[in-house]
Amino acid sequence: MIILFIQLLDMPHLLGRWILLTKDKGLVKQEGTGTELPMTGDKVFVHYVGTLLDGTPFDSSRERGEKFSFELGKGQVIKAWDLGVATMKVGEISQLICKPEYAYGTAGSPPKIPPNATLVFQVELFEFRGEDITEGEDGGIIRRIITKGEGYTKPNEGAAVEVCLEGSCEGKVFDKRELKFELGDGESLGLPSGVEKALMAMEQGEESLFIIKPKYGYGNTGNSKYNIPGEATLQYKLKLTTFEKAKESWEMNSAEKLEQSIIVKEKGTQYFKEGKYRQASVQYKRIVSWLENESSLPEGEEQKAQALRLAAHLNLAMCFLKLQEPSSTFDNCDKALELDDTNEKALFRRGEALFAMKEFDRARADFQRVIQLYPSNKAAKSQVALCQKQIKEQHEKDKRLYANMFQKFAERDAKEEADKGMENGGGMEVEESGGQE
Ligand SMILES: *[C@@H]1O[C@H](CO)[C@@H](O)[C@H](O)[C@H]1NC(C)=O
Ligand SMILES: *[C@@H]1O[C@H](CO)[C@@H](O)[C@H](O)[C@H]1NC(C)=O
Repeated sequence: MIILFIQLLDMPHLLGRWILLTKDKGLVKQEGTGTELPMTGDKVFVHYVGTLLDGTPFDSSRERGEKFSFELGKGQVIKAWDLGVATMKVGEISQLICKPEYAYGTAGSPPKIPPNATLVFQVELFEFRGEDITEGEDGGIIRRIITKGEGYTKPNEGAAVEVCLEGSCEGKVFDKRELKFELGDGESLGLPSGVEKALMAMEQGEESLFIIKPKYGYGNTGNSKYNIPGEATLQYKLKLTTFEKAKESWEMNSAEKLEQSIIVKEKGTQYFKEGKYRQASVQYKRIVSWLENESSLPEGEEQKAQALRLAAHLNLAMCFLKLQEPSSTFDNCDKALELDDTNEKALFRRGEALFAMKEFDRARADFQRVIQLYPSNKAAKSQVALCQKQIKEQHEKDKRLYANMFQKFAERDAKEEADKGMENGGGMEVEESGGQE
């Protein structure tokens, strides 16, 4: 029997059948309990025992006592595993018999695996889950690949993409379109930020399903046009038909960078006026990415670049105020102040960010600095007054809290004393705290 499918393995086009065949022939040692098969890109968790054809064991995750995990179908493991595990259900134990072409080939893997070795793996599949594509792996965007794409590049910010999309919420399709647009402009088309992040993780021709949490979807407000309530988890089936990357920073000379910066600054300002703050911020960030570390600027262009960077940081600070992300506002104000340490807007906006972060003392210091430098700034004066009010309220709250705490401590101490008295039989004298040691 083993001979039979080793021969079949010589015909790669039959490999899919081979796997079925091995199952038909009873090489599934234990049927799985799961109903679904893992998808390409899923993280799978297995135990395995590997032996040579003559039964010599060479590797075992069971012996190590630790499950092995890998991303399916990505070439992280030998081919036989990418193909074999894709046919398994959770709970299943299968025997995968792997010809050298699907294992370690003519070279083998010294010292344990000789050249041209056929290997036998007993594999048990425990769990699989979609791939988390967010930077911080916060579980906000999970991908299940339906059809793998090709090529080694992915779209970047500003890339021109062509996409077929189908968005659904609780099983109902709310958006189905074919779109051609530049990444960064999605908000204008009613796309949540998660869809653009998803596209930036895709390869040409790929079709995938993405599960998008509210943070990367329509947030706590939802979307009235599509009838999506707040805090809704969305599903998007995306197919990236084709794309053309935007030029990367290193592909541009300094003249191009300056020229493009002026263009995207206009674009950002237009979005800002339309209230599309996220989208505006994407454009301003591009300026920073091009000019922040540009050192080969010709004489006379330095100042132009500096002015563009300053504007970008000030505008980003404003966008993040609108988006209620004060710590990003704070960071951009700091960057702006590195370029111009008495900048009125940077100081004022940092004050606003600190106020939103409830750092009223530091906020007041920034507003006071504005007044000191620009005595006619009335807004800063009223902000100082607001800070003072908050600081005073905070003090009073603290006072009440402490008063309360002291009261509680006093009550607790009294109770403990009383309890001690009980334990000691009531009549015994309780040691004074001063008397210890
Ligand atoms: C492995 O197989 C290849 C192709 O069948 C053959 O050319 C080679 O000599 C073999 N190597 C060893 C060490 O057996
Ligand atoms: C510029 O260089 C600094 C320091 O090396 C780095 O932290 C920053 O990310 C760089 N900025 C860009 C846009 O590449």
